[in-house]
Parts: sequence; structure tokens; C-alpha cells
Amino acid sequence: MSAHFRAAKVTDHVYWVGAIDWSLREFHGHLTSRGTTYNAYLILADKITLVDTVKSSFKGEMLSRIASVIDPGDITYIISNHSEMDHSGCLPEVIQAVKPEKVFASVMGASALAEHFRLDQEIVAVKDGESISLGNMNVAFVETRMLHWPDSMFTYLAEDGVLFSQDVFSMHLASTERFDDEIDDDILEDEAAKYFANILLPLSTPVARLLEKVGGLDITKGIVATDHGPIWRKDFSKILDLYSRWAAQEPTEKAVVVYDTMYESTASMARAIAEGLRAGGANAKLLPLRACHRTDVATEMLDAGALLVGSPTFNNNIFPTVADALTYLKGLKPRNLIGAAFGSYGWSGEAVGQVEDVLRGMKVDLVGESVKAKYVPDDEALAQCHSLGVLVAEKLKELCE
Ligand code: FEO
Repeated sequence: MSAHFRAAKVTDHVYWVGAIDWSLREFHGHLTSRGTTYNAYLILADKITLVDTVKSSFKGEMLSRIASVIDPGDITYIISNHSEMDHSGCLPEVIQAVKPEKVFASVMGASALAEHFRLDQEIVAVKDGESISLGNMNVAFVETRMLHWPDSMFTYLAEDGVLFSQDVFSMHLASTERFDDEIDDDILEDEAAKYFANILLPLSTPVARLLEKVGGLDITKGIVATDHGPIWRKDFSKILDLYSRWAAQEPTEKAVVVYDTMYESTASMARAIAEGLRAGGANAKLLPLRACHRTDVATEMLDAGALLVGSPTFNNNIFPTVADALTYLKGLKPRNLIGAAFGSYGWSGEAVGQVEDVLRGMKVDLVGESVKAKYVPDDEALAQCHSLGVLVAEKLKELCE
């Protein structure tokens, strides 16, 4: 096999053998503007072990990187930390090509892989806290149920201080650089936040529990080898601190105003609300949905304390882009929010009430009276919007004291 793709050395015993997807621009409904990587790793122990695989279309790239270090036929074990197909898509073909002695996964991972691929190879189920010998070294497994799927687990190679963390601590970022210290800090934080907000936010409670477990592994000075994006080797405590903050979802004095508009009426209401928020001392972030994607809305919510949503009434309904953003946000289950609804209408004006219903369904604590304006908001309607902004800012200040 040609080895024009090269493996990257992580430690004396661990090599990155994944694939770089420069063209991916969407993942489960959110934008991935910098592409992604599917990371797989080789552990060069007595029993050579492959940790995770890659999306099926990238199998050749992964096998080529493996071949730059060893003969792929020398792989004895495969560990599947996560059965989602961006990490297991080529597993059946790799099993067929490599014929490993054993394939390991969590208990739920073993059934998920069987249900995905109907494999002939038996998957050996391992439990939380269990270790296996690779001959001259051991790996231990840490169940991370629901992060990102019920099957997910970490694998820990104590000898080299490497935690294979699959989706957790990942980001969608294609790059020729493999390590955190080779990438600009602002890009790391931006992409990590986008990943957390759009994938892990609804799982904040298991994330908080996991962070306690990870604290017990003493990996802050070690290496965290994720399944997407860079490997953390310099500053893992940075992402650990960010995860603690994001999982807690403590409110801040930041208000996100999400809206769309047909003839600038709802937009002018949004701007009046923003002025009121600022006058009340809050930080206002306006997200007009004709210029912003739902990805941006989710990411901005990560450190927000208030969500204000504006929609014109369109065919007796919420405007489609607003409905899209609300449906997406509802699924991400942001917590600890106050909020309000507003919007213009021509005849019946149902949208504002419908937005209120969705916000209540999201457990957003509605503050003040929603503002509705017929056709074009007059001075009185705009003054109501301004007052609503001031009120939300004052409530945020109380909550953040
Ligand atoms: Fe990267 Fe949950 O898959």
C-alpha cells in the first residue's frame, strides 16, 4: 500500500492516523466553515491497537497513514470509542482488511455497531473502569454515556498519559497542524465554542459529571486526543475551564435578540429593544436571521442570560426562518434564560403569541409584556420596545448579582 499520507507522532507509542476533510461545511444542521478532521490513532504496543476509524469515504487516507508506520495487517486490536459513522463508517471494511483478533466497544457501543453494520466479527463489550492488556501496556475505559451518543466512551493509556476522548473536547477544524500549540488561540476557542453549543449543549448535565470524572485522571499535564480537530498537548486546562463554564450555563448580562423581518418593521423593533438593553446596562447581540445562520444563534447563546425573539406574522404563523431557529434552539435545551417576544403584523398577528408558547416550552422565564405592532411600529410601539429592553437588562443585572 502506498503511504503518501503520513502518520503524525503524538508520543513514543501513539500516532495520529486520521483523515482531513477540507470540504465539510455542514454537520447535523450546523455550519462547519473550517472543515473537520476524523481522528484515528495507532497505539504501538505489543498488541498494536487502532483507536477509532474514520468516515467511510476517507478509509484510504487512514490506511495510507497507518501504512506509513506499520503494515495494517499487524493491527491486533481495534477499539471503537464511539459508533457514530464519522468514526465507524469504514470499520466493517477495516475489519475485513486487517482481520483483528478483537474489536472492543462499550456495552452500548457493541450493540450500536451490530445494529449499524451487522458485523460477522464479535464486538467485545467493555465496562466502565475496565482495563485490558496490550502486552507491554494497558488501556482503561471510561464510560461517557450520552457524550456524544449513549455508546460513547474514553480510552486512557496511562503509560503515555494519553486520553482518547472521541467527540468530547473536539472541534470541527481542518488543518495541516495536529496540536493545539500550533493553532491560534482565538480559532481554538471560537471552534470549540461552536462545537459545544451546537452538539454538546443539550448534554450539559452529563458534561458536568464527566468533568469530575476526568479530574480524577490527572490529565491536565497529559495529552487529550480527540476525534475532531487538534490534539491537546499544551493547554488542556484551557478547554477544561471553558467546558466547566459552558456546561454550567450561568446567566450573564448578555441578551441575544433573534429576529427576521419582511418590511423592516420587526427589525426596527429589534433595534429599539437593543437600545433599551444597552441603556439598562446589558450587552445586546442582534442576530437578523437573513444574515445569520442558526449555528451563530446557538453559539451566541452559550454565554447569554436572555433570549428575545422577534417574528412578523406570516400566513397566521411564525416567519419560517424564525421557526427554524426556534426549533433548533429548543432541541439544544439552553437553560437559565429570561426572554420576551415581539413582532409586527398586518391582519391577525398570531406569531408573537406562538413565539411566547415556544419560549415557555423552552422554560424561558418571560419578562414583561410582549410587544406587537400593526404594520409599521409608531413612536409608542418603539418606546414599548425600548422599555422592554431596559426591563430585561434590569432583570439580568439582578440575576447576575
Ligand atoms: Fe464525531 Fe458523535 O460523532
